[in-house]
Amino acid sequence: MTSIIKDPSLVDEGRVKVEWARDNMPALREIYTELKDRRPFEGYRISLCLHITKETGVFVEYLKLLGAEVSLAASNPLSTQDDVAAYLSSIDINVYGWRGMSKDDYYRMLASALDIEPDLVVDDGGDIHSLIHSRFPELASNIIGGTEETTTGVIRLKALESENKLRYPVIAVNDTPTKRVIDNRFGSGQSTVDGFLRATSLLIAGKTVVVAGYGYVGRGVASRFRGLGAKVIVTEVDPLKALEAYLDGFMVMKMSDASQIGDIFITCTGMKDVIRKEHIEAMKDGVFLANAGHFNVEIDVKALEMLSLKKRLVRPYIEEYVLKDGRRIYLIGEGRLINLVAAEGHPPDVMMASFSNQLLSLLYLLESGSKMERQVYNVPKEIDEKVAKYLLKGWNINIDVLTEEQKKYWRDWRI
Ligand code: ADE
Repeated sequence: MTSIIKDPSLVDEGRVKVEWARDNMPALREIYTELKDRRPFEGYRISLCLHITKETGVFVEYLKLLGAEVSLAASNPLSTQDDVAAYLSSIDINVYGWRGMSKDDYYRMLASALDIEPDLVVDDGGDIHSLIHSRFPELASNIIGGTEETTTGVIRLKALESENKLRYPVIAVNDTPTKRVIDNRFGSGQSTVDGFLRATSLLIAGKTVVVAGYGYVGRGVASRFRGLGAKVIVTEVDPLKALEAYLDGFMVMKMSDASQIGDIFITCTGMKDVIRKEHIEAMKDGVFLANAGHFNVEIDVKALEMLSLKKRLVRPYIEEYVLKDGRRIYLIGEGRLINLVAAEGHPPDVMMASFSNQLLSLLYLLESGSKMERQVYNVPKEIDEKVAKYLLKGWNINIDVLTEEQKKYWRDWRI
C-alpha cells in the first residue's frame, strides 16, 4: 500500500472513531449487508476525493469489503481527520492526505489517488474529475463513470458537459432529494453551528447573523442560527430565493447594508467574492467571518490581508485581523469550510443518506454505465426512494401507504 498520511500510529483512535460513525449509519449498514455476499465491486478500482472523516471511513471501508481496490484523496487541505486516515491506511486502503497540507501537496495527492487507473471515480467538489479531464485524459477511456457529491462539483461538471468535453457519465448525487435535504440543509445547518461553537465558544442568542445565499445550505444555516436565538439576515442574488427567505421570516437585504450591522457572517453561496473589500471596510469591530461553501473563495481573504496591519491566531482556527483604524475582524478556518475545519463535518446519521446514494449510484454505474452517454445524470428515482426507505427503517419510522381506492383516486380525472 502506498498511503501518504501524517501519523500511522493514530490507528487505534481512528478505528474507534469509524466504529462510532458506523454504529450511527444504520441505513448504509443495511445496504452493505444486502450486498456483502455478492461483493459487486470485486475486481474494480475506485478513486475517491472526499473529506477524510470518520463517515467517509465507513463508506470506503464498505467499498473495500464489497471487493473494490480503493484510493482515497483528501477533498480539502484542512478537513482530514488524521487518525481516520491512519486507520483506513491500516486496512489496505490507499490514503493520500493530512490536515494542514499545502495547496501543491493537495493536488499532488489527488494525482496519486489516480495511480490505480480507476474504473469508477467519486468526487466532492469536482477537483478529481477536473484533474482527469485536464491532466490525465488518457485515464478516461477506462472509466465506467463517476459520481459527484456537492453543488459546486455538479456546476463544474455541467460546464464541462455543455462544452461537450465530459469524457464519462457522472451521476449528480448532490441533486437527489434524500441527499440535498438531509445533507445540504439539515447537515450543513447543524454542523455549521457546531463549527462556530467549537471555534468561538460564544453565545449565539441575540447576535445578528448574516447568511449569504438561501439555497439548501443557506436555508439550513439560517434556520439553525435562528433556532438558537440569533437575528438572521439573508442576502441573495436570486429573486425567488430572496422572496422565500423573506416569507420564511428572515430580513433580506444587500450585503453592503448587512455588512454594517452583522456580528457573524456565514457564506453559503458557492460563488467567489461574496464578502469583499468594501464590505469588510463597513463592518463593526469584532465581527466573525466564516464560510460554509465548498471552496475558500467566498470571502476575499486577500482583501482582508491588505486592509490589515497585523494578524495573530487567537484560538485554534480563529485569526484576528487588526485593520488600520484598530477594528478587529475574526476569520474562522482561513475561510474554508467551517464545519469540517473547526468541527467534524456533518454527523454520521446525515452522511448515511449521502453515502447510501453514493454506494447505490456506483452500483448503478457498474450495471448501466456502458449504456450511458457522457452526460451528467440525476440519481435514478428508484435509488432515491430506496435510500428514503432504508433511512426510515434505520430510524424506526413507519409511514402510511395509499389504499387501492386512494391510488384509483389519483389516476381519475373525471369530475
Ligand atoms: N461533508 C460534510 N460533512 C462530511 C463528513 N462528515 N464526511 C464527509 N464529507 C462531508
